[in-house]
Amino acid sequence: MADNDLIASTRATLERIAGEFSPAVFASSLAAEDMVLTDLILKAQLPIAIFSLETGRLHPETLAVLDAVKAKYGYDVQLYRPQPEAVDAYVAQNGRDAFYNSIEMRRECCRIRKVEPLGRALAGNKAWVTGQRRAQSATRSDLSIQEDDPAHGMVKFNPLADWSEDDVWNYIRANDVPYNALHDQGFPSIGCAPCTRAVQPGEDVRAGRWWWENPESKECGLHIVDGKLIRIKPVAA
Ligand code: ADX
Ligand code: SF4
Repeated sequence: MADNDLIASTRATLERIAGEFSPAVFASSLAAEDMVLTDLILKAQLPIAIFSLETGRLHPETLAVLDAVKAKYGYDVQLYRPQPEAVDAYVAQNGRDAFYNSIEMRRECCRIRKVEPLGRALAGNKAWVTGQRRAQSATRSDLSIQEDDPAHGMVKFNPLADWSEDDVWNYIRANDVPYNALHDQGFPSIGCAPCTRAVQPGEDVRAGRWWWENPESKECGLHIVDGKLIRIKPVAA
């Protein structure tokens, strides 16, 4: 699909969400994909509220995007933070960086810092929007633009499911969209600071996320399908 067609169909998806699935919210990690959606939503003044999960472990460069959004669009992204008691208990029992020790410890940290706050952010809505793309990783190879999300009891939209990495950056440059400075320092995918590192040229875009784990386990629990964290497309016989 040509760039303009892709953008037009994504706009149409967002308008449909605003029209038919209100109230709807958009979960922004403040990374490149989410800035494309932020630009499309705010320029069209669509009634889709934008929130971010402020885990307490984000890079300063990621937090700086909040100010850039305010400066360009006059919009305050709503922040959801983890429950302090849950963070304190995890740190006291396991250590602040215990997520390096096992997948279980890593998922527990993500549960406290991302998944529980996500539940609060989504409560009372009919749909939520994410910036996931099919080409991002093995765990997203079967992603659809629209899907049921029984875990949260609502519909979930991934309007950029068909977009390539180049589509994202072409849009950002053509529309002068603000973006996280880390993207220019070898970070194609950005999560929490201790769990994200730069990648080498040619490496997978998510190779720098939880780099000590297998690609198949690299999801934080925000995106559950059929009770599973992953959705790998079955290989045709
Ligand atoms: S993650 O789930 O493994 O962290 P990724 O960073 O690729 O995934 O983000 C995929 C989508 O999940 C984002 O486009 C966004 O919709 C949502 N998301 C991830 N992290 C956050 C966050 N901190 N706050 C809000 N939404 C997030
Ligand atoms: Fe914790 Fe790392 Fe998950 Fe962030 S990405 S919530 S620091 S385990």
